[in-house]
Amino acid sequence: MFNLVVEMNTQKIRKDFPVLEKGIIYMDSACVSLKPQQVVKAMNCYYNEFPACAGRSMHKLGEKVTEEVSKARKIIAKFFNAKPNEIVFTKNTTESINLVANSLGLKKGDKVITTDKEHNSNLLPWQNLAKRGIIHEIIKSNEDNTFNMDKFKEKIKGAKLVSMVHTSNLDGVTIPAEEIIKIAHEHGALVLLDAAQSVPHKEINVKKLDVDFLACSGHKMLGPSGTGILYGKYHLLEKLEPFLIGGDTVIDTTYTTAEFEKPPEKFEAGLQNYAGIIGLAEAARYLMKIGRKNISKHETELNKKITNELLKIDGIKIIGPEDPELRSGIISFNYKDADPHEIALLLDSSADIMVRSGAHCVHSWFNAHNLKGSARVSLYIYNTEEECDKLIEEINKIVEL
Ligand code: ALA
Repeated sequence: MFNLVVEMNTQKIRKDFPVLEKGIIYMDSACVSLKPQQVVKAMNCYYNEFPACAGRSMHKLGEKVTEEVSKARKIIAKFFNAKPNEIVFTKNTTESINLVANSLGLKKGDKVITTDKEHNSNLLPWQNLAKRGIIHEIIKSNEDNTFNMDKFKEKIKGAKLVSMVHTSNLDGVTIPAEEIIKIAHEHGALVLLDAAQSVPHKEINVKKLDVDFLACSGHKMLGPSGTGILYGKYHLLEKLEPFLIGGDTVIDTTYTTAEFEKPPEKFEAGLQNYAGIIGLAEAARYLMKIGRKNISKHETELNKKITNELLKIDGIKIIGPEDPELRSGIISFNYKDADPHEIALLLDSSADIMVRSGAHCVHSWFNAHNLKGSARVSLYIYNTEEECDKLIEEINKIVEL
């Protein structure tokens, strides 16, 4: 099927994902995306052809790894319109956020602002620092779970850092990052975006956004698990204290002193996940080739289709705004007081449809709303209209039950 609405050949794309041959309908990409064979091949190439160490050994294999990691950093930099030395490889978004939280030198009385929809990864680091005296303030979202700009404008005064989820894994809503960043900068605050759910689905130009730090994970963007990225403006990375320290973060040491490398090396302690880094760069290349604008359009079209049908079912409640254009590729829903886990298990057992259920690591939001969780459909480049039809058919059967 050549999708005429967008310039994307879904059937051709699907051929790159061998797991789809099992006949599964995978709608849990907000948790972990599938991996195209190009990514697996790139990783195997490391293991089969040059399974050595970067930045240390002078022999041919070592040189090759150093060269491939450097190439990977350049590709990722291009992906974000950043400079290669502004790209730090981490193991996931969580580590990237923890790096900033623990290295920025926040002191007692410094104010950090988040939203009320943060993943535990962007909540716990600030809760932890709050025990040592930072002030953590939370912007409550509007009734429909969209960003409340008025409340943000009230709270931004005196803030040191704004750390916010760019696109929510709870409901797919994207915050108006450009405006938030502009306002934050006018008030002298830095901005860190948790972009785990936006980077895989839309074009992110860090220069245009003027964001200070941005964190994301490889496993949600067709890349390997155990890979992540921290983007930071170079002059800010230079000021950050290294978080994890050890091998390859230093130029020289004595028994009592250390001379640290410059960024990004000073943050990449110990032997790295070279296969992962190389696979991650391949994933970025794959996404650039498809075109991220096409990906967003494709997901929105599918979301419209699912939302229109779901809203016809009495008792279904979608979390976030009803308008699918505001929820990227995510449909997080509840049916009356049915257990979301039961919905997910039934979809899996009856039709091999894989969705996630529960609190999606945003327990704080669910607790505040007296909800146990939701069933969450999350779409990506390999999902088709036929799969959406099947999903709706199965949800209707569950409702009849
Ligand atoms: N943050 C991931 C999700 O939403 C794990 O599923």
